[in-house]
Order: sequence, then structure tokens, then C-alpha cells
Amino acid sequence: MTRVFDEDLAAGFGTQAIHAGQRPEPLAGAIMTPLYLTSTYVQEGVGRNKGYEYSRGTNPTREAFERNVATLENGRHGFAFASGMGCLDSIMKLFRAGDHVVCAENVYGGTFRLFDKILQHMGLSFSYVDTRDPQRVADAMTAATRAVIVETPSNPLMRLTDIAAVAEIAHHRGALLIVDNTFASPYFQRPLELGADIVYHSTTKYLNGHSDMVGGVAVTRDDGLGEQLKFIHNAAGAVAGPFDAWLALRGTKTLHLRMRQHDANGREIARWLVEQVGPENVYYIGLPTHPQYDLACRQMSGFGGMISLELGSRERADYVLERVRVFSLAESLGGVESLISLPAAMTHASVPPERRAAMGLSEGLIRLSCGVEDVGDLLADLEQAFEGLPGRGNKGSTGARGTTGAKPSRDTIGSAAP
Ligand SMILES: Cc1ncc(COP(=O)(O)O)c(C=O)c1O
Repeated sequence: MTRVFDEDLAAGFGTQAIHAGQRPEPLAGAIMTPLYLTSTYVQEGVGRNKGYEYSRGTNPTREAFERNVATLENGRHGFAFASGMGCLDSIMKLFRAGDHVVCAENVYGGTFRLFDKILQHMGLSFSYVDTRDPQRVADAMTAATRAVIVETPSNPLMRLTDIAAVAEIAHHRGALLIVDNTFASPYFQRPLELGADIVYHSTTKYLNGHSDMVGGVAVTRDDGLGEQLKFIHNAAGAVAGPFDAWLALRGTKTLHLRMRQHDANGREIARWLVEQVGPENVYYIGLPTHPQYDLACRQMSGFGGMISLELGSRERADYVLERVRVFSLAESLGGVESLISLPAAMTHASVPPERRAAMGLSEGLIRLSCGVEDVGDLLADLEQAFEGLPGRGNKGSTGARGTTGAKPSRDTIGSAAP
């Protein structure tokens, strides 16, 4: 089982991001972990090998990435998968027909689709609750509940779950807490430190950060869960290929730098959006007007670059989506480049319309993944895209150009850290 190097755990986050899980390669001393493009390893005799037998089980490039992320999450064991969904599907193989799972009602559409269209037919049952209120989680638990699964912040409504409170509820009933930490990344939030049992990511997003691979990773501190996940990883085989692991490992080396800039840009863009459409229509956890701002300050150390925005109708959403030039209309998030999307028709199209409506995910909601470009260019792009927006009224020019480096206003944007 891939275990972190204990000596890595004491280093600061930036040092861990660059070095954890990696040691100079023994043949030539290469500073960068080599890309081990091999399916198998030559054995000296039956049962005598260098610790590697077949790459579905272990691969040195993948191991370096797994150790790296496990260290960043302050966990002990990491497992890299071929996608975020492959990762979650493998985690769910911890459970058996008849088991019950409490899931946050607002999760990535593909998560709901996996549960609703596949795992439900294999004997698992799911209750979807608004996990902003821990009491609702407690009320949904049954004698058969084996896990609580949350995404915090959630995609795309930017809702938060109190990880420590829900961990206590889950553990009290003998269930695991599993947290999708894709939006925050371990730079801003470490769920294992707050009591979660398993944390997982779509590494496609912030961890890799360059929109050039698809992957997932799961981390736990618990040796028993680690053994079970190791078995599933190899037996079910949805493992990350070495090249994807290598790309993602290169990505994590700059995670701390990128996240700081995503956060700075997110704050400034959220402030500008508030001026355009009012605070009630901007879903950004760094706004003191966000209903869970205090929780964000308590369990996170920054807010990041994800913002959702209610424009009131599909027509108004399309108006903006068709006019942006620097933001690109695309699925996904968390890359260095800024993306914009319409969740109801894109990432959450697989969620039935009535379920979307019930949780407040409208046809007029757009989601921004603020990249790390110059924020003045991003603001200027939005300014020209909003120009003439039907019903915008006279909330006109904002002087967006030239704001690069401007300090966020204290009355609309919260402090950097709790
Ligand atoms: C929060 C979240 N979790 C999981 C996933 C699934 O990850 P992947 O696309 O890598 O399978 C996504 C994808 O958008 C996501 O946004």
C-alpha cells in the first residue's frame, strides 16, 4: 500500500507540494520522477522482485503522485485513479448491497448519476439531504447507513458542509464521512484534519491545474481503510496511467502558487459581480453576505476561484456566455485558464429538472472558474460581456480595466484567512 514518507509530513505546504513523495531517482539522480511507462517488471525469481510486479498494482510514477497528494491532505495512504468518477466508484465498492448512504443534495451531476443510474440498481440506497444543516444528516441516518458523502464547497451552488460536525454525526452512528475536496484543494481545506475518513478529488481540476489530463485520487489516514482501498484499486483496476500521474505530479508542484492567484482573482471578480447583480445573486464563499461565510472562515484558509452567478433566465445567461472572449465556454474547472459554464445544461444536465429546481439550480445560473490570468483582463472581458445585458439597468461601467493589483474592498470581501 502506498504510504507517505513520514519525514515529508513535517514540511510546510509549499515544500511538500514540490518534494513530498519524491526522492532523486537512483540510476542517474534525476531530480524529476521518471515516467515509468511499463506494464510489468522483470523478476529475479518467482516471488523475488524489487517490490513491483505489474503496473495495475503499483507503478513508481503513480506512487510518487499518490504519496505527494496524501502528504498534502495530511493523510497516510493515497490511491490514484483514471478519473474522479472512477475514484468515487471504487470508494463505493467498500459498501455492500443493502447499505444506505446519506449524500449531499448538491453534488456534481456525475456523482448523482453514478448513484442514481448505476449503484442504486446494485442494491445501495441513497438519501439526498441539504447537508448545510447537520441535523438533517442526523435525521436521515438509519441503522443501515454506512457513509455520508459531501462536496464542500459544492458544485455549483457553493454550499458548505460543517465537516467536523458531520464527521461526529457519522461516527456516532458507525458510518464513514467521505468528502469531495475538489473545489477547495488541500491548500485551502484538509477534511481529514477535521474528522473525515476519506477525502477524494477529481485531479482533473485544481490538483493538476493545466486541463491536460483526467484523473482522481483518494486519501485516508486509516490503515484498515487503506488496505481495503488498495485491494479495490488493484482488483477493480480503475488506476491512473503513469503519464497522467506524471502530469498531475508536475501540477501539484505549483498548487500553492496557483491557489493563491485563483483566490485573489476570485475575490476581485466576486466584488465586481456584486456591483452588477447584487450580493444575493453572487454565490462566492468569500463574501460576508454568503450565508455560510463564518463556516468558510472556520474550516478553510481561503476561498478560491469558483463563483456562481444567478442571472435570472436562460436568455440572460446565454447573452453573457456568448460574449465572453477570455473566459472560455467549457465544462471543467480549476485550470490556469478561466472557464465559464451553464451547469443546468452542462455539468448537471444528468440531474432531473425537478431535482435541480428543488435545490435552487436554475437555468439562469452560470458558473465561473476564475483562472490565473491578469485580473484586469478578466474584468474587462466580463465588462464587455455584460454590456447591454437585458435588464441590467444602469449598473453600468465599472472601470474594470486597470484594476490589476487593486485591493479587494473590506466591506464586500472577507479576510484572507480565518
Ligand atoms: C466536484 C467534482 N467531483 C468529481 C468530479 C468528477 O471528476 P472527473 O471528471 O475527473 O471524473 C467532478 C467533475 O467535474 C467535479 O466537479
